[in-house]
Amino acid sequence: MAQLSLLSIFGKEAIRDRLQALRQELRSHAHRYYVLDAPILADAEYDRLFQELLALEQQHPELISADSPSQRVGGAPLAQFAQVAHSVPMLSLENAFGSDDLVDFEERLFRFLQSRTPISYVTEPKLDGLAVELVYEEGVLILGSTRGDGLVGEEITRNLQTIPTIPLRLLAQEEKDVPRRLEVRGEVFIGLTDFKKLNEERGHSGESLFANPRNAAAGSLRQLDPKITATRPLDFYAYGVSDPAALPCRNQYELLRYLGSMGFKVNPLVHLCQSIPEVSSQFARLQEQRPALAYDIDGMVVKVNDFTLQERLGAKARSPRWAIAAKFPASQATTRLVAVEFGVGRTGAITPVAILEPVRVGGVMVSRATLHNEDELRRKGLLLGDTVLVQRAGDVIPEVVKPVKENRTGQEQEIIMPATCPECGFTLVRAGQEAITRCPNPNCPAQRVRALIHFAGKSGMDIEGLGKKAVQQLVSQGLIQDIPDIYQLGQLEVESLAALDGWGGKSAENVARAIEASKTPPLAKFLAALGIRHVGEVTAQLLARHFTSLARVALAGEADFLQIEGIGEQAATSLVDYFQEPTVQEMLARLESLGVRVQEEQQDPEANGILAGKVFLFTGALAQLSRSEAKARIKELGGQVASGLSRKVTHVVLGDSPGSKLSKARELGLPVISEDEFLRLIGR
Ligand code: IVH
Repeated sequence: MAQLSLLSIFGKEAIRDRLQALRQELRSHAHRYYVLDAPILADAEYDRLFQELLALEQQHPELISADSPSQRVGGAPLAQFAQVAHSVPMLSLENAFGSDDLVDFEERLFRFLQSRTPISYVTEPKLDGLAVELVYEEGVLILGSTRGDGLVGEEITRNLQTIPTIPLRLLAQEEKDVPRRLEVRGEVFIGLTDFKKLNEERGHSGESLFANPRNAAAGSLRQLDPKITATRPLDFYAYGVSDPAALPCRNQYELLRYLGSMGFKVNPLVHLCQSIPEVSSQFARLQEQRPALAYDIDGMVVKVNDFTLQERLGAKARSPRWAIAAKFPASQATTRLVAVEFGVGRTGAITPVAILEPVRVGGVMVSRATLHNEDELRRKGLLLGDTVLVQRAGDVIPEVVKPVKENRTGQEQEIIMPATCPECGFTLVRAGQEAITRCPNPNCPAQRVRALIHFAGKSGMDIEGLGKKAVQQLVSQGLIQDIPDIYQLGQLEVESLAALDGWGGKSAENVARAIEASKTPPLAKFLAALGIRHVGEVTAQLLARHFTSLARVALAGEADFLQIEGIGEQAATSLVDYFQEPTVQEMLARLESLGVRVQEEQQDPEANGILAGKVFLFTGALAQLSRSEAKARIKELGGQVASGLSRKVTHVVLGDSPGSKLSKARELGLPVISEDEFLRLIGR
């Protein structure tokens, strides 16, 4: 803070210098953290630098630059994507299946070059994501686009800027090393662990699941709102440039090293091979490594190393002659779609499930595969009785790829979505734009089981021994029906538990003890366990901190929820609906009478100060204190500081030479106060 005030004394040049130094430092630490995986700075220290940058930039919005690390959070939403023509077409690759095809590939090269001089190759894992192009001018990322049809793609600069492994500024050591223009190409993808987590979170909040990591990456990149993209765990590997001629690299291997030195993440499994037999054994090794990799790959790209040779070989219409994709034998099989069953999820979502004639895919027997939702099912054009192509990607759940239409006999029948819930008979609803059809009955038995599994499970109360199977058994034995029943399991029930398959006296007693121990849950845990739509662990945490007691959450109105930064309309509506539901109120009352005492959250100092519930936004420079001092003071007094304009803002503080926020604030009718009024509010 002392630094900030000094800066305001020394003026703009000093501020510009400080901004540059901060950005440089943050950039270098982010590179160490995300790309090299070798951080040397504590997270808290990084955060402190980042906050300083944000504060300075907020005071001097005219000094914000496109390559500032602050720009990663995602800007304003777009109405539509613009088109970008690639300066050099983004080609695709021909496929090779097995060693013979690789030998043929080299034979073609020899023939074309009219020479049998040995050729060296670079092999690279073929990531299964989306190809993108990043254009840097004077070292700064100015444009990013999808591959599109290879000639023209979509402009997604704002979205690509949110990916931490994409440099906003090249990491060149010296000014003279920065190429005037550089067009980098590579693959955007989502790792397997992140993919699972993302889908789990979506499941918890009642959103539709992504079929595979590739779809998740594609869906995340094609968001018009970069703020949404920013929340997705996207990653990037660079593998090429549009034109290497002007670069200090003679071959692909040097180019990859060069890209690494410019701050890009380059796949560590690339190899330089001196012959096709070496390429083949590299392929075999990669295939062995594949199941243990943190991301999906569908093969290995083989590239002629030498750029002079690449140039001589050139390209055919759609693919270069100097590269080929060696594909793994697909874990795919064909079988028959016998029936479609409809499952009911915890939030009532109806999921079509394909019942298949059992078939071996990638070493595993598959007889069921999710069809995700109705839209997905229609898009694939499946009919009952179809021969279908089934696949397993990595260890991801099996999926139906498409019908084999050539095999149709005319006997196939349309798949009809049920009009009523297969479990409880309630009429199903499909709201507006949603891809999901739902059962609206809160007492639907299928939803109840799911709700119970969620309640007792890891993202809920985490009751030891009460996993999915145990809950299903208890329900099918009629021992429990709803959440309070868990706490009503008495001596008699525990004994009958012990008699069940897979249980015993000891495990039954352990569960009984775990249930007893779970009677005083922290508020956040309990809220997350209830499985309210759009309320996952993070939202539950926000609620707990803000309201501190269950009673206060249950009594809050939509406006109260919307006041909290990080809680949106969907969650707010869902919360109000939930707590107004009489069956919910009964359930909570029963839990209380059974001795469940949800703990009050530690009093949040922020919730109690004189500025509690007030949200401030600054525009223009303050004269009597720095903006970060002002912010610190607001926080001390329990208020919040908004990062942008929204209806949650209760006070717009007007400084000297305010920016465009002022007129927008007026348009929105937000109250504007002067610096003096603000100082009075904070007791100065
Ligand atoms: S090189 C002209 N290298 O594969 C060279 N592509 O079918 C074309 N891909 O659209 C691309 N990993 O999405 C190259 N290491 C890699 C790759 C790779 C994945 C994808 C890329 C491209 C497709 C080509």
